[in-house]
Amino acid sequence: MKTQTVAILLVALIGFSVAQKLHHEVDFITYASDNVIEVDGNVGDDIHVRIKENPTTGFNWIIAKESPLFKGLKTEQEKFIRQQSNGVFFPGTGGYKLMKFSIQDGGDKIIDLVQARPWELNTFKDTQGLINWTEVFQSNHAIDRKQIQVKVKA
Ligand SMILES: *[C@@H]1O[C@H](CO)[C@@H](O)[C@H](O)[C@H]1NC(C)=O
Repeated sequence: MKTQTVAILLVALIGFSVAQKLHHEVDFITYASDNVIEVDGNVGDDIHVRIKENPTTGFNWIIAKESPLFKGLKTEQEKFIRQQSNGVFFPGTGGYKLMKFSIQDGGDKIIDLVQARPWELNTFKDTQGLINWTEVFQSNHAIDRKQIQVKVKA
């Protein structure tokens, strides 16, 4: 009983001195029918996202990183993991995309993921080559869209 009290006190002390960085899991594979998932986080936390993808179809999940709502988030990792069975990869069967974001500052943010053929978005690029997501969402090109609403404590 006494050691337990000490451990809890220690965690509380560390918690107050160094802000604990949490890892939030957003799993669009298990929760495939969810289109919006909310994350309550703090500055410094990570958000790990998994979503099914099959690049051989030409469709990729694209992060709307040029969106003003994405400001204050940083993409730390974006990679495709091929599906395998007993260590054997099957070409064309797809897999999933793994993404990692970090929260850089306060205020609410949104990570929009759009499933599209990357070249289809070229018409929405401005002179600097940045995609205008407002125009994408107003068009019919947002074939499939997933949203992570990030509520950041001030
Ligand atoms: C994006 O497009 C919308 C609608 O056409 C426009 O109002 C807005 O100014 C554009 N944003 C940028 C950053 O160019």
